[in-house]
Amino acid sequence: MTANELRQLYINFFTERGHRQIASASLIPENDPSVLFTTAGMHPLVPYLLGEKHPLGRRLADCQKCLRTGDIDSVGDAYHCTFFEMLGNWSLGDYFKKESITFSHEFLTIALKFPQEKISVTCFAGDADAPRDEEAADIWRSLGYPDERINFLPKSDNWWGPAGITGPCGPDTEIFYDTGKPKCGPDCRPGCHCGKYVEIWNNVFMQYFKDEFGKFSPLSQKNVDTGFGLERNLCIQNGVESVYDTELFVPVIKKAESLTGKKYADNLKAFRIIADHLRAATFILGDDRGIAPSNVDQGYVLRRLIRRAYRYLTQMNAPANAMSAIAQVIVDNYKEVYPELGRNHDFVIAQLNREEELFGRTLEAGMKIANKYLDGLIPPSLGGGRAALSRAPGGEAFNDNDKASPPAPMPGAAPLQERGELPAELAFKLYDTYGFPLEFTEELARERNISVDADGFHKLFAAHQEKSRAGAEQKFKGGLADHSEETTKLHTAAHLMNGALRRVLGDTVFQKGSNITAERLRFDFSSDRKVTPEELAEVERIVNEAIAAAVPVVCTEMSPADAHAAGAVGVFDSKYGDVVKVYSIEGYSKEICGGPHAANTADLGAFKIQKEESIAAGVRRIKAVIGDAAK
Ligand code: ALA
Repeated sequence: MTANELRQLYINFFTERGHRQIASASLIPENDPSVLFTTAGMHPLVPYLLGEKHPLGRRLADCQKCLRTGDIDSVGDAYHCTFFEMLGNWSLGDYFKKESITFSHEFLTIALKFPQEKISVTCFAGDADAPRDEEAADIWRSLGYPDERINFLPKSDNWWGPAGITGPCGPDTEIFYDTGKPKCGPDCRPGCHCGKYVEIWNNVFMQYFKDEFGKFSPLSQKNVDTGFGLERNLCIQNGVESVYDTELFVPVIKKAESLTGKKYADNLKAFRIIADHLRAATFILGDDRGIAPSNVDQGYVLRRLIRRAYRYLTQMNAPANAMSAIAQVIVDNYKEVYPELGRNHDFVIAQLNREEELFGRTLEAGMKIANKYLDGLIPPSLGGGRAALSRAPGGEAFNDNDKASPPAPMPGAAPLQERGELPAELAFKLYDTYGFPLEFTEELARERNISVDADGFHKLFAAHQEKSRAGAEQKFKGGLADHSEETTKLHTAAHLMNGALRRVLGDTVFQKGSNITAERLRFDFSSDRKVTPEELAEVERIVNEAIAAAVPVVCTEMSPADAHAAGAVGVFDSKYGDVVKVYSIEGYSKEICGGPHAANTADLGAFKIQKEESIAAGVRRIKAVIGDAAK
């Protein structure tokens, strides 16, 4: 089965059952204060899970581009990826557990022809927040699943969400494929993480809202949110060993083999990391809201992915610009399904080459220093055998499947804490002088069973920079937009500012991203030059004029083509006969947008730009505030 056949089979199955297909949202969330990337199919649907009406109705399905860095250290095994595609179906207050479970059962056993006995499930065991989910288990039983293939697990396993600190969430039922491997022990049951059971689908019954105090309250509408991993399921469908042996990766790995002259079979982990990280980087760069490598937020995650891939390639003596040559294969492999990769192809290639040039200059020198520091931390009597584990670029390549993992301590070796910790000052020097992301240094250290003083590093980092990487990580782990009154107003201010910027600087300016918290808005846009103080003053004046004019904010639903014809700005990626919402502020702004917004510009009170800066080549950032903070 090809990837496209699987995508189509899924979408057709659900459209035949009353779902409307929606396009994948951007990998870079819009108007979201607290997350760097779209991590699940439900992410762009949060307002609708909370009750806002979706223009296409109550049943939706899609294939969403997702990125999670939480699993980055597992990349290299058979199933984990940072970037992945999530097929999903949603009920927005429509069907609930019975239909959801029945749909999944039928899709797996009828459409995909899985032998039913290979499928097992887990259900929520219940706690003080919500009862044991006997309802879901009964539905599975009624479909012919015996009790030994239904396991009840606590919240840590069988509860999903919120995606951040607050938001919709609920108990889930997870569906596993039995690989046929032996049980790891007498307690091995569905849901065990030993590798026997592979999670293939997660059906979340989103019926609770978790607030900032950690309290769960019932949502007014009971939703279903599901996630079906494309890569894993393709791997299982085709009976191949790992996701890296599917068509999604095979050409990429072949290219890496031909560039390095090394064999995938001899270097599984290194090739998988290279393929995974460059695929993720290509999708981040190739997004219509794509961003360039930098030291903050998404740009920092991107930089980490690229630099780690580059190190592994360098260890295998890859030639110059190998990363962009591999990215070319990825673009070709995906551009029919994700046309934005084709549209943004030049940016992808140029940024990878640029990052290689930047890091290529310092990697070798940095590795020498790092090796010196790290070597100094292990008493020589305990250090035998480690030398082969990490080489400066140009040195010996990794040459087996797991040498990049921490080596087992030598017999009689001192426990970890006695083996040394890299001081924060040295980790910071590697970062500051040689461009080694902290995680990069941590990986080098881990290869020798050494830890890094990360807390100390963050302190030094914070002292040196206004924005710390820790901030970025927190955001990544943090909550979704809270949709409070303040963020809603700031969202409207972002539209006014976008309109004003285009009026002042010309309509070649377009939004590259935005990030809104209850305190401020941050808006990234394309521009090759600094915006002058006069121009900023004019933008501010226009937005304040709109606020003083008390213009109503009007939402209309229309086809993307009509929105385009009406002069709305936004993403016109209409694929499935979508209906989009267009928010208009007469005379000032017209944008395709999911909302929510203030009802009237007067609600904003006042508007003030606090800062304008460059964040990457061709991308500027403005920070602004409204209300009392702007007066
Ligand atoms: N949102 C759920 C997940 O990501 C379906 O697993």
